[in-house]
Amino acid sequence: MALLEIRSLNKFFPLGESVFGGGAKGEVRAVEDVSLDIHAGETLGLVGESGSGKSTLGRLALRLIEPTSGSICFEGRDLLAADRGQLRALRRDMQIIFQDPFASLDPRMRVEDVIAEPLVIHEKLSTAARRLRVVELLRAVGLDESALRRFPHEFSGGQRQRMGIARALALRPKFIVADEPVSALDVSVGAQIVNLLADLQREFGLTYLFISHSMPVVRYLATRIAVMYRGRLVEVGETAQITERPQHSYTRTLLQAVPEIGV
Ligand SMILES: Nc1ncnc2c1ncn2[C@@H]1O[C@H](COP(=O)(O)OP(=O)(O)OP(=O)(O)O)[C@@H](O)[C@H]1O
Ligand SMILES: [Mg+2]
Repeated sequence: MALLEIRSLNKFFPLGESVFGGGAKGEVRAVEDVSLDIHAGETLGLVGESGSGKSTLGRLALRLIEPTSGSICFEGRDLLAADRGQLRALRRDMQIIFQDPFASLDPRMRVEDVIAEPLVIHEKLSTAARRLRVVELLRAVGLDESALRRFPHEFSGGQRQRMGIARALALRPKFIVADEPVSALDVSVGAQIVNLLADLQREFGLTYLFISHSMPVVRYLATRIAVMYRGRLVEVGETAQITERPQHSYTRTLLQAVPEIGV
């Protein structure tokens, strides 16, 4: 049994009403008939051009958005049938890392509060115990307690991404969707974050769905690679197989792109 089993998944977004009153204008097929297994302990790299449906698939995998149809099982449990209580328990095991971890957060929150927020929501800890956990998390991502009382905007993009990772790790998840976590960073800083993710995977036995438009980054990190094109999965296979013997012409196009990262 795979950790995550996605079957015949569809996500269609309505295009909205026509301004001329002509009714619905159709739909965007962001994810179409996707079936995919993600195995415990692996990094599945998800690549594809902008708008191919990568982020939509990543959000569906965590049930952050509802699919139009299809099924998703996490550890054999039907994610889409889960009620609020079950979903709350499942959410602890599944986290997301974004390109800009602080875009959606209150800028007045201190680093300690940002990283502790999932603990406040899900675990009853004393203030002291919670602070200890936050310090542990900071250290796990290469930072220290001097960050606790400061604000995220006082830090560099790479350091902020480390904080985003610390927050994602707070509940000791099993599965992490990383949606373009290094795309906004300089090449060398991005390489450090990629290496950190690889170290954390070994340390905590994590499974990643790693979304990127950069084949070189994915090639470095991924166990297997899935290629999306216009909402569909066109190719899935071992990293060596996809990079050395791509079957789909679109995969070959992606591989011809200039390397962007020196890891
Ligand atoms: N909430 C939404 N409402 C309407 N359309 C959407 C919504 N979210 C995504 N889409 C559309 O679905 C398609 C897939 O978008 P998605 O963001 O998943 O692509 P992506 O591969 O992550 O792209 P990028 O590399 O730019 O991040 C696009 O056509 C997008 O415009
Ligand atoms: Mg995206």
